[in-house]
Amino acid sequence: MSYLGLDLGTSGLRALLVDAEGQPIGATERDYPLSHPHPGWSEQNPADWIAALDSAVEELRTTYPQFADLRGIGVAGQMHGATLLDASDTVLRPCILWNDSRSHAEAAALDRTPNVRDLSGNIVFPGFTAPKLEWVRTHEPQIFERIAKVLLPAAYLNLYLTGDHVADMSDSAGTSWLDVGKREWSDELLTLGHMRRDQMPRLVEGTEAAGTLRPELAHRWGVSPRVVIAGGAGDNAAAACGIGALNEGQGFVSLGTSGVLLAARDGYAPAPETAVHTFCHAIPGRWYQMGVMLSATDSLNWFSRITGAKPAELTAALGPDLITPGTTRFQPYLSGERTPHNDANVRGNFAGLSAGTTRADMTRAILEGVAFGLRDSFEALRATNASFDELIAIGGGTRSAYWLSLIATVLDTPIRLPASGEFGAALGAARLGIAADQGTDVTDIMTPPALSASIQPVTALKGTFDSAYDAFRASYHWQKQAPL
Ligand code: XUL
Repeated sequence: MSYLGLDLGTSGLRALLVDAEGQPIGATERDYPLSHPHPGWSEQNPADWIAALDSAVEELRTTYPQFADLRGIGVAGQMHGATLLDASDTVLRPCILWNDSRSHAEAAALDRTPNVRDLSGNIVFPGFTAPKLEWVRTHEPQIFERIAKVLLPAAYLNLYLTGDHVADMSDSAGTSWLDVGKREWSDELLTLGHMRRDQMPRLVEGTEAAGTLRPELAHRWGVSPRVVIAGGAGDNAAAACGIGALNEGQGFVSLGTSGVLLAARDGYAPAPETAVHTFCHAIPGRWYQMGVMLSATDSLNWFSRITGAKPAELTAALGPDLITPGTTRFQPYLSGERTPHNDANVRGNFAGLSAGTTRADMTRAILEGVAFGLRDSFEALRATNASFDELIAIGGGTRSAYWLSLIATVLDTPIRLPASGEFGAALGAARLGIAADQGTDVTDIMTPPALSASIQPVTALKGTFDSAYDAFRASYHWQKQAPL
């Protein structure tokens, strides 16, 4: 028996094949482009996701004989993206992604509307789906009129896999159309967003079956047409399933394109005033909260493009040992910011440059700026009474030992890494596939990975990093008062 977990990320798709116990058999990745047709815009072509999926499956299927005994698939997706389909499921325009801020005015208007925060449990951030549709209604009315369905990226893959329009609760919670406490579409929110219930996909829990594999795909892949497709999840909920963060006190810090600090919660207690996100978990009857910064490794990747040096080369130049904060400062707001500022218009900044500033100084400032941004989310989560004894770190940025030591110190919290192997959103998605097929108890399957030794805060530097964080907080307000 084998199961497939798909993580439809912002920079690429990861496909992971596991056995019935969730142990990895093999994995592969495919990249696809991201386009920024205007400043603040961020789009992708859904056909690229399908091409990536087809090609990744082709490799897994021809490399691992276990693929032939595929039983279930789970999809985790970058959240919030609006994939607009006409009545024949043709994509009407490029998908508008989670880090696209064009709809900030529409978001602010919806956010001001009575009941919206109460029902959706969240600020309406510009990256969420409802304001994107308001933008399309105003700016592309000829497209808006033809919309028969709006699907999140993971639900679009569910459609490709099953032929049906189905989304899970965790991803749908990021639309501003879902009553997040009741786990159902809200007619009031849909009406306020000028949408109709028939334009929404059917809702299932992430662990439930969304459908079975389309016969045409089953034939092409050489597998049974009884392969079950799970409801799936938004990528952060899936990552929580991958590291077994289901209960109060469990959480992770994710250093991906976005930076996320996530806390599993035992109940539903939204706190939109803190700018944390409160979303349904991918498993029934559970919720989680998270702070989201929009440009984590994206900040380093930007600097890598500017300098022509790979991110690993940039961070290697710092060595592993944390040193006192530099005089060069960086504000990581390349795409605006969500937690804690909800500000689509703020932009990144370098400060404190001198004739002697080196590339390494600037790299260090970027890592520090991202760590301080995560501290903002940490403080926002603390305001909701979330607490962490330690944090598991995941995502591409965890390859830098310097960054991990810095984050442990800035958050004053020990950090642990999964010891080896698979643990992220792709594993969480595969585990959802297993649960949907076998009806497995989630607590049996969604267990924490083996962890490495913990990375401790550097106590001697904590005070200076606290002061540098205070200066970072103040610099946001200065920039607002005197924009460049
Ligand atoms: C979460 C968010 C990002 C994307 C990244 O609200 O927008 O973390 O899910 O894929």
